[in-house]
Amino acid sequence: MPAQKLSTSSIKRVQQQLRQRTEREQQRNNKRLFHEANRLKRLPLYLFTILDELKAQAKARGVDVIDLGMGNPDLHPPAHVVRELVKQAKKPENHRYSRKGGDVETKLLETIAAWYKRKFGVVLEPGQGEVLPLIGSKEGISHLSFAFLNHDDIALVPNPTYPVHFNGVVLAGGILYNLPINAEGHYLPDVHAIPRSVVRQSKMLFLSYPHNPTTAVADVKFFKDVVTWAKKHRIMVIHDFAYSDFVFDGHRAPSILEVPGAKEVAIEFHTLSKSYSLPGLRFGFAVGNRDVLASLAKIKSYMDFGLFRAIQWAAIEALAGPQEYVHQTVATYHKRRNLFLPGLKRIGWDVPMPKGTFYVWAKIPLKFSALTSLEFATLLVQEAGVVVSPGSGFGEYGEGFMRFALVEPEPRLQEAVRRIARVLQMAD
Ligand SMILES: Cc1ncc(COP(=O)(O)O)c(C=O)c1O
Repeated sequence: MPAQKLSTSSIKRVQQQLRQRTEREQQRNNKRLFHEANRLKRLPLYLFTILDELKAQAKARGVDVIDLGMGNPDLHPPAHVVRELVKQAKKPENHRYSRKGGDVETKLLETIAAWYKRKFGVVLEPGQGEVLPLIGSKEGISHLSFAFLNHDDIALVPNPTYPVHFNGVVLAGGILYNLPINAEGHYLPDVHAIPRSVVRQSKMLFLSYPHNPTTAVADVKFFKDVVTWAKKHRIMVIHDFAYSDFVFDGHRAPSILEVPGAKEVAIEFHTLSKSYSLPGLRFGFAVGNRDVLASLAKIKSYMDFGLFRAIQWAAIEALAGPQEYVHQTVATYHKRRNLFLPGLKRIGWDVPMPKGTFYVWAKIPLKFSALTSLEFATLLVQEAGVVVSPGSGFGEYGEGFMRFALVEPEPRLQEAVRRIARVLQMAD
């Protein structure tokens, strides 16, 4: 495709399409026989649904779409884990309901505790309710708000962040209080700046480092300060540790439970989705404060029947088996980062090197900064066939940024850079 002038009409067209889409959706909603509950209506627009539609439209036009939108790992999962899953799925007894105290159920808790000790030096008591398996960490994170938030309880949530942190609060009917985070503050919330009246009403604080979408990392000193503050104000700290393995350039991602006494106020979420490229398996777990986990287990007992036992065996294999796969996976994303960032820089889009995660958090180039991130994302799909997440999908303070997920192989990332270059040139 030769470089051509990006006419204001392309931008106008994008803006008009997005407006029309909103209108169509409103009309459809008005005509519905069965209206959604207010708690669903209160949720912000799920931008990824729009991106999926745009992607489908581009594909229908025959465009070879490069999808850097969702953090959906593209690498093949570890073969030994898949083998175990298949083996266990063939056993009839594994198709019965999962019951507390069963063989695999007990072994899984012990395996998670041993993994924690090896990785972070943190001692957990699996028999005392300090470990809870989940149907993916997303499930646990959103149910946690249901277990704890009343209509007058505040949840403190950094913004931008992984949307489940705030959507869970809204769905549960709690009060969402945004803690804006930005590059100047290293994307760490300043809990000491929260007004006293807000702190008094607050029940929980969400954290997640390495951070999606900003790629920021936190050190033990930060966690120590937060834990001391949380104990003083009796606030629960929830640390979503999905990217615990994804740190580069000598950084280390500590567990919040490494802080002495953190278990009094904190729990931590993990997942096999990222480190082991098993997002479809739906396996995560929470560890830490046993009272908090007991309430999470309680609400889950009314909602689900636990995990498929074959999945539990597979999770044991992932956590207790050889870990070479995880090192290779992190090395692969590291290489992708080292290829993609200089590529963006070459085409005039200078973005700070991510310290963690497999994302890139990029300020919209100046000449496009009059567009919203959703408009710019739409433009990139339509003009370049590259799907990127708009920053506003991670909260209002993400506006003005784009998030790339490096979930395509290196040649595709190079191709994405070439295509984005054409869009950037078109505006010259
Ligand atoms: C920060 C964070 N937490 C949790 C999840 C969801 O993980 P799971 O697949 O275990 O539900 C994601 C997925 O992108 C994530 O980015």
